[in-house]
Formats: sequence, C-alpha cells, structure tokens
Amino acid sequence: MALLHRMALALLLPLQVAAMTFNELPRIPQHLCCASVGSRREDVRAILPEAFNHSAVRVVECMKLQNSDFVYRVGTACSYCECLWEDGADLEGTAECCSLTNFGTPGYNQITGYTTCQKYKQTYNLKTGIVRSCELRYDMYSFKSAACDRSPVALLFLLPLLALRPT
Ligand SMILES: *[C@@H]1O[C@H](CO)[C@@H](O)[C@H](O)[C@H]1NC(C)=O
Repeated sequence: MALLHRMALALLLPLQVAAMTFNELPRIPQHLCCASVGSRREDVRAILPEAFNHSAVRVVECMKLQNSDFVYRVGTACSYCECLWEDGADLEGTAECCSLTNFGTPGYNQITGYTTCQKYKQTYNLKTGIVRSCELRYDMYSFKSAACDRSPVALLFLLPLLALRPT
C-alpha cells in the first residue's frame, strides 16, 4: 500500500508544479499578486484589490487591458507583472505577492508574511544576464471607478487647499 501511495505521489507531484488554475490563484486582501495560468504572456494575471471594496480582490487578464487602463492602478499592476514575467519570474509555479498596506515603505505584512510592495523591484534575467527594475507606481494612480465622474467637484474643493499650500 505504501508503495502504491509513493507511486501515486510520484505521478501527482509533476502535476502540482504545473500552471495554476484560475481557482488556485492567490486572492489576498490588500495585496498585489502576479501569477500565471500558463507559460505565455497572455497567461499573466494581476490580482489586486477591487476599487469599491478593498477587502475584495479581482483577477485581471493583463493582455486584455486597453491603453487607457494604464493610467490606473490596474495598469501599473499589470505592467509590473508583465515586467516580472519578461525577466523570467516563474509566475506559473509561484505567485509573486506583496502587501499594499503602507506601500513603498520598508517592512512586511505581519499577518501574511509578504514584504511591502515597493515602487521598484530589481529583477535579474537569467537568459540575458541583464539586471533591471520593474516599476510599480501604485502610489501615482487611482482606481478606475465611477468616482472619477465626481473629480471636477472634488477639484473645486481641492483648489483652495492647493492655493494655501506653502511654496
Ligand atoms: C467586500 O468584499 C468581501 C470579500 O469578498 C465581502 O465579504 C464583503 O461582503 C464585501 N463588502 C461589501 C460591502 O460588498
């Protein structure tokens, strides 16, 4: 019986390192994860908080984004994930996650153990030997949401504040 178990394990183990399925993608509130459901660029997924409910997460097919999405958090998240993928990160085997709480500061999330997301992550491409940075400008962009429709009103409130700002 033990032998049979071992044989079954030997057969199953290679399957476990195969690409993650959609259901296996990590969904961690307040984190960004880059993962891949296959080996192609089309398979890259960014998993990030929802615009309206930050404890919910959404899975984004990065290749399906439109150019206009790149000025939103979803765009910078996807650029970052695709950059990691280009440099050979094994996103199929292991998702790359970081904590968005206190974005850009040193440290890690004490609950999940993931390090805090930074504006830049250095990557080393094993194939080319080139070191470069993958940029994540989560701080510069907002969520794409209906709240954008209210921005002219928000601006009216903000303008006097900007005028008061010490120069
Ligand atoms: C926000 O998302 C969480 C996790 O998906 C869910 O449990 C909760 O009900 C949602 N809250 C609202 C207000 O939709």
